Amino acid sequence: MHDLRDKVCFVTGAAAGIGAVIVRAFLDEGAKHVAALDIDISKGQELQQELTNKYGEGKVKFHKCDVTTNEIDTVYDDVVKEYEYVDVVVNCAGIMNDRPNVFVKEIEINVTALIRSSFKAFDLMRKDHGGRGGTIINISSIVGLFRAHLLPVYTATKSAVLQFSNCLGMDPHASRSGVRVLTLCFGCTDTSLFSQSKMGAFDKETDELLAGSLGKLPMQTIDSAVAGLLKAYKEGDSASTWLITSGRPAEDITGNISKAYGIMSQGVFS
Ligand SMILES: NC(=O)c1ccc[n+]([C@@H]2O[C@H](COP(=O)([O-])OP(=O)(O)OC[C@H]3O[C@@H](n4cnc5c(N)ncnc54)[C@H](O)[C@@H]3O)[C@@H](O)[C@H]2O)c1
Repeated sequence: MHDLRDKVCFVTGAAAGIGAVIVRAFLDEGAKHVAALDIDISKGQELQQELTNKYGEGKVKFHKCDVTTNEIDTVYDDVVKEYEYVDVVVNCAGIMNDRPNVFVKEIEINVTALIRSSFKAFDLMRKDHGGRGGTIINISSIVGLFRAHLLPVYTATKSAVLQFSNCLGMDPHASRSGVRVLTLCFGCTDTSLFSQSKMGAFDKETDELLAGSLGKLPMQTIDSAVAGLLKAYKEGDSASTWLITSGRPAEDITGNISKAYGIMSQGVFS
């Protein structure tokens, strides 16, 4: 069983939505410090103020950071300089917008930046290179588990997160490094990700279908999503995948993923 007491934590996309509640939960669980990274300066500063008032000076620091730039490397370096280590990283920053003028950015945020941050954390934490191990939690989605055809790019990015994180979390990487990599598939969670200003499809016709489909999806609270993340953090093995949806307790679906790849890879090795 893993716990968060005295851990130095690093959360991207931390100013709002699921990320902000992860920051609060980590402090509630006794983390030593949480570095909260986001592009949203006003929400980030507000969160830092609120949590400093509640937990005291130095427990949380907001870092203005666009994860698609090398600002993220600077934040890692600053946190290590001040707190000597990073024990837990949650790569949570993400957008859901397949519009023709946004989808490249969507891939950069959801995939490229998450991979860069994971490798930075992995290098820092790996026991075989002088680190003391740690945990990387990468946020995929239920759309990584089925073909969400209305959002082909978003779905592809979350499938990429699932494959990347599962592969990085497997042996020999895990046993050699002492770094756990967990993949979380959240179902629809009540944040502004679905707002008209943030969400978009690749064309007008699909935009209409998307708007029509939304009310039909079961929506869970952010607290329920974050309770699931804590369970996965405490109990999850490296390369495990967790389904956290519809307000139900987090479910370890690693066996299903293995079975699915067993089917998909039939004929590949023969
Ligand atoms: N809300 C859901 O239903 C749901 C479901 C499955 C997965 N997810 C995933 O959970 C994660 C969090 O989503 P959310 O619902 O809290 O969304 P949100 O829009 O409420 O929060 C996302 C946060 O990421 C930040 N962000 C965006 N681009 C950034 C960048 N370039 N650099 C740094 N920060 C950036 C935003 O400013 C925002 O604070 C995302 O990866 C999302 O894909 C959400």
